[in-house]
Amino acid sequence: MTFNLSRRFLLTGAAGAAVAGCANGVQTAVASTEEAFPPEALAVPDPYLLGAPEGVALLSRNENPYGPAPSALKMIEYAAGEGAYYTSRGASQMLIDMIAEKNGVAPEQVAVTTGSGEALSAIALIYGPSGPIVAPRLFWDTTALYAKRLDMAEIDRVPLTADMEIDLAGIEAKVSDSTGLVQLCNPNNPTGLVLPADMIKPAVKRMAAKTTVLVDEAYIELADDPEGTSCVDLIQQGHDVIVSRTFSKIYGMAGVRVGYTISSAETAEKIRNTAMSWGPSLSTAAAIGCYNDQAFVDYSLSKVVEAREMVTATLDELGLSYLPSQTNFVYFKSGMEANDVQKAMMDRMISVRGQYMDYNEWTRVSMGMIEDVERFCNALPEVVGA
Ligand SMILES: Cc1ncc(COP(=O)(O)O)c(C=O)c1O
Repeated sequence: MTFNLSRRFLLTGAAGAAVAGCANGVQTAVASTEEAFPPEALAVPDPYLLGAPEGVALLSRNENPYGPAPSALKMIEYAAGEGAYYTSRGASQMLIDMIAEKNGVAPEQVAVTTGSGEALSAIALIYGPSGPIVAPRLFWDTTALYAKRLDMAEIDRVPLTADMEIDLAGIEAKVSDSTGLVQLCNPNNPTGLVLPADMIKPAVKRMAAKTTVLVDEAYIELADDPEGTSCVDLIQQGHDVIVSRTFSKIYGMAGVRVGYTISSAETAEKIRNTAMSWGPSLSTAAAIGCYNDQAFVDYSLSKVVEAREMVTATLDELGLSYLPSQTNFVYFKSGMEANDVQKAMMDRMISVRGQYMDYNEWTRVSMGMIEDVERFCNALPEVVGA
């Protein structure tokens, strides 16, 4: 068997040690990295450098603390050992192929990005200069605002209905040939409400005849009927629609940063060309590990449902109104200033979202660890003075 000494090997001190050993006629073991850097000597960071700060019930960012799935962690461990190398094309393609297969589209129609936020920012930069981004007044607007800050987009916000639903008819009425993009979020954040298939799909189809329609489906796996509600089938039928998804929510990998879009192949290419980074190997591996892990998705969903039932039971007991959520957060009307609720909760080491726009009496609480949600439920009566 021939043995190729790689250039990398020759450039390292290990090669030098091996050569020196041979020259002396002594059997010298090649110094391993572990010998050079004994693991015992490495400093372990403060355990709360990442994750939830010590003692804090983190219920403000819609994360899934039950992740990452063991199937993802196994791949992260493997990928960490190969971290010296750029992500292989094979790994990137494997993830793309898996997403394409599951969604019934061609691999060219998939763009994988560093979190769905990157794709959404790219989309805002691509379409913003051609005309306003027409969107509901309340939606996950971070990426549209990013393009606005760069003077690359304007947002035309359409008020919600009296029930805090997205006003699809109102949005449709605004759409013309000079619209840059329509952006919807289904289920919506922060309301948690879902536009059902029979409402969203006909409207999206009609609007897509005039302009590109983006449907942010970050929470779709948490909806009662994810497949029926998703707008991916409109893309399969050739409509000018982009769907974005993420590994940050049901897959519990917000810090790992993987998201993707499904669209026409032409649009996917534009998104890839505009995105500013390329997939880290650890994230790509993690996503490959858990994408088809239905058992983990079901487990996470059961935890979210359990937590949501605890929260809504507490709100019912207190007589506080809330929106029927199909997500891992609940938007409720406390009757108090949202920022005061946030502060009072923080005094008890419980983190919830502060005020959105002028919705000053509404608070969004995320479904975290069951014991953390329990703390929230126990604190709420005191916080709202019940
Ligand atoms: C509706 C929605 N879309 C997209 C994102 C961005 O998620 P990520 O960039 O982690 O995929 C979020 C984050 O909270 C969100 O709520």
